[in-house]
Amino acid sequence: AKKPAGVPQVRPRSVRRVGVVGAGLMASQLALVFAQQLRVPVVISDIDQERVDRGLSYIAEQNAKQVKKGRLTQDQADSLTGLVTGSTDKSVYADADFVIEAVFEEIGVKKQVFAELEEIVSPETILATNTSSLSVTEMAADLKHPERVIGFHFFNPVQVMPLVEIARTSQTAEEPIATAFDLAATLRKTPVLTKDTTAFVVNRLLLRLMAEVQKAFDHGTDARTADEALKPLGLPMSPFELLAMVGLPVAQHVTESLNNSYGDRFYVSPNVQSLIEHDVTEVWSTDESGAKHIKDSTLEL
Ligand code: 3HC
Repeated sequence: AKKPAGVPQVRPRSVRRVGVVGAGLMASQLALVFAQQLRVPVVISDIDQERVDRGLSYIAEQNAKQVKKGRLTQDQADSLTGLVTGSTDKSVYADADFVIEAVFEEIGVKKQVFAELEEIVSPETILATNTSSLSVTEMAADLKHPERVIGFHFFNPVQVMPLVEIARTSQTAEEPIATAFDLAATLRKTPVLTKDTTAFVVNRLLLRLMAEVQKAFDHGTDARTADEALKPLGLPMSPFELLAMVGLPVAQHVTESLNNSYGDRFYVSPNVQSLIEHDVTEVWSTDESGAKHIKDSTLEL
């Protein structure tokens, strides 16, 4: 197969133990996919046991689905589920070769996670971030070893979406880049190497479309009409379906980051803000025939 562009000529680090920081949706999906494809122990953590347990249950459920689909035996599913363990204590990352954080998308939170990790892991452990819109350079700035930090950005749902963005900063060493490419191949993902610019490549392009849809929404095009009008373009998911899957607060947060960096072409919708403030997180409902409809509550603004 053709080698992707930008792979350094150094040996990748061998990854025998993976850490995922966080146990939310992206973190659990990442832990699942690392366990499924690398077949190595994966540790996850979160701020309380309830979150950790929710993450572990998600992983068990996803493996059980593969049994139902006839792709795994019960034993295989059990051993995959058993590869992932969880804790509220970050010392579980001590022996990890590669740790990826997927915690709340806030620069202060991410910097603190990396600072704590640096006290625990070996100086060679690679620290990756699944951020979609924050500066990887800033996240690494106060560390003793900023050269080990790399962006490794996956898309939701991680199990299905083929792309991963590998974002290097001006300080990232060659080994983390080579390792990210190597991991991407093992995870059966298609890697692209990007510079550390806000929202890398995909979200810069995708959110431009989403911002325009939301602007039309604010100008009076209701969500259902916008979705129906765009479906024939061949998008795998209509814009509001995608918004609902990513989660309105997360999507809004990413748009705000883009707005801060690139200005008004990344428009922040007051109507979407109002949906968030009214806690309208379920944009869709399913009728008896299984067809999905945008909920009327979304249209009444
Ligand atoms: N979680 C896990 N697996 C899922 C899933 C989900 N939410 N949704 C679908 N799947 C799986 C199904 O189980 C099925 O798996 P299988 O082939 O192993 O049985 C497979 O995906 C295909 O499912 P369907 O046939 O039901 O679905 P579709 O053909 O409708 O495809 C889709 C589903 C791949 C999710 C497609 O709708 C899609 O590509 N949507 C766009 C997703 C997208 O753009 N994501 C990026 C969001 S932005 C982002 O993540 C960046 C962040 O930083 C903000």
